[in-house]
Amino acid sequence: MGESRIVVAIDSEEKHGAIDLTRSISDRIYAVKVNWPLILEKGIGIVHELSKITKVICDLKLADIPNTNRLISEKVISAGAFAIIAHAFCGTDSLKAISQSGKTKLISVVAMSHPGGNEYINSRWKSLLQTAKDSDSYGIIAPGNSPEILSEIRKEAEGLKIFSPGIGAQGGDPAIAIKNGADFIIVGRAVYQSSDPVSVVSEMNSKIIP
Ligand code: XMP
Repeated sequence: MGESRIVVAIDSEEKHGAIDLTRSISDRIYAVKVNWPLILEKGIGIVHELSKITKVICDLKLADIPNTNRLISEKVISAGAFAIIAHAFCGTDSLKAISQSGKTKLISVVAMSHPGGNEYINSRWKSLLQTAKDSDSYGIIAPGNSPEILSEIRKEAEGLKIFSPGIGAQGGDPAIAIKNGADFIIVGRAVYQSSDPVSVVSEMNSKIIP
């Protein structure tokens, strides 16, 4: 079996501690993703602890001026972040402040998986994708629960890696997301709220790894 294409979002420790959960699934996943809920609960040290176990994607959805984006990035990079997620709508200079650190990978949001994504951002994905390219992004975020948008984005994303949330709790299907162009799927509640995360991850792997 090839490398896993699953990124597990750990947004809550109600059921499993983040470190124990990561240890239990680390050989079955590509990376974990941490967002504000976990960082606000545990502090930035959680990135450092998790980075000893697997790759850590910091989903801070950065959307600030270049200097602030740079200052925040430096903190999470020194904590061990493998990649940082930022909003493409903040513009090329703000995104380059992250990518040009040279020490992390920038993943830029060009479309979103929740219903509100259709109010503003999803109709602008083409220009946001261009901003992501112009900013030396490593990857982009595109919705795994909207196969039509995802497949359109895939056609124009060229070499960018596509990370797709919206799987499981938001209705997306792992195999359909991969078929429509996702390189990696992001899964949160379906794993961290499960009583058996190892089985959930193993079953998803069996559906998406060639
Ligand atoms: P669930 O529980 O819905 O968690 O599987 C998904 C995780 O991914 C984040 N998320 C997104 N991040 N664009 C993003 O950049 C999106 O469209 C999107 N949808 C979900 C969410 O914050 C959670 O951590």
